[in-house]
Amino acid sequence: MSTVLPGQHPTVVPGRHVDTAIVTARTNENVFVGEEIVRHRRSARLIHWGVAVSFFASLVSGMPIWTPLFSWMATLVGGLQVARLIHPYTSLVFVAFSIAQFLHWQGEMKMTEHDREWLGPKLFKFMRYEDEAIDTGKYNGGQKIFFYCVTFGALAFLLSGIVMWFPESFPKALRLWAVILHDLTFIGFLVGVISHIYMGTAAEPGTFRAMTVGTVTRAWAKLHHPGWYRDVMAEEAKKSSAKIPVK
Ligand code: HEM
Repeated sequence: MSTVLPGQHPTVVPGRHVDTAIVTARTNENVFVGEEIVRHRRSARLIHWGVAVSFFASLVSGMPIWTPLFSWMATLVGGLQVARLIHPYTSLVFVAFSIAQFLHWQGEMKMTEHDREWLGPKLFKFMRYEDEAIDTGKYNGGQKIFFYCVTFGALAFLLSGIVMWFPESFPKALRLWAVILHDLTFIGFLVGVISHIYMGTAAEPGTFRAMTVGTVTRAWAKLHHPGWYRDVMAEEAKKSSAKIPVK
């Protein structure tokens, strides 16, 4: 296996037709490969796209059940009856992927003192990139809050959904609360996911590839997550000094 050191440019090994960044990103993350840094290894990306695809399947099958305004969406899954039938199952898949996502990322999503500022008046400054981000680690406070909202939202969908799936097993008052919780959770998700897609694509160019090929550029990392960039650099420096033979 060839090693591509930091600062060394080519990510394609001449004559081998292998993109080392993509190959490295299958099993590693938080490492440099030439001018790129692996941000999300393959397992993280597969879980994320499992969450996203099952979320949209639940959205398309759930919205026509919610209101006739979206009945046209039912045609995408084969009609209203099919939508009613598949919605609980696509949603169970969504909950399962959300739990996998929580287990996979929870170690990296611990809130720091700096992250908590995202819950206060500084939020709008951060959103407008008006506050310095020198300490921002792999994920900023907004991303961590979104992560927890997705996890708790998935649980709220599950609990309220079970009550709505088997209505005869629950008292009327609980069924009413379940519908309210399901609808409020859905509205929260809609706002959150639309903002999330915007942030992950148009608002911050260079971010989307972190979830496709798995890598970002050094410039992207320095700009958006300088604390993480420094940590990866420090780790690489440690690894390189460990390789120097002691005389
Ligand atoms: C087409 C739709 C989507 C796109 C383009 C997208 C894009 C992305 C990207 C690029 C990242 C990595 C951000 C980074 O490394 O800094 C990410 C992370 C994440 N995504 Fe998505 N995503 C989509 C749908 C969803 C959905 C539907 C959910 C949940 C319901 C979701 C939940 C998350 C979470 C929890 C993270 C980690 C926290 C964060 O970076 O915000 N994503 N997504």
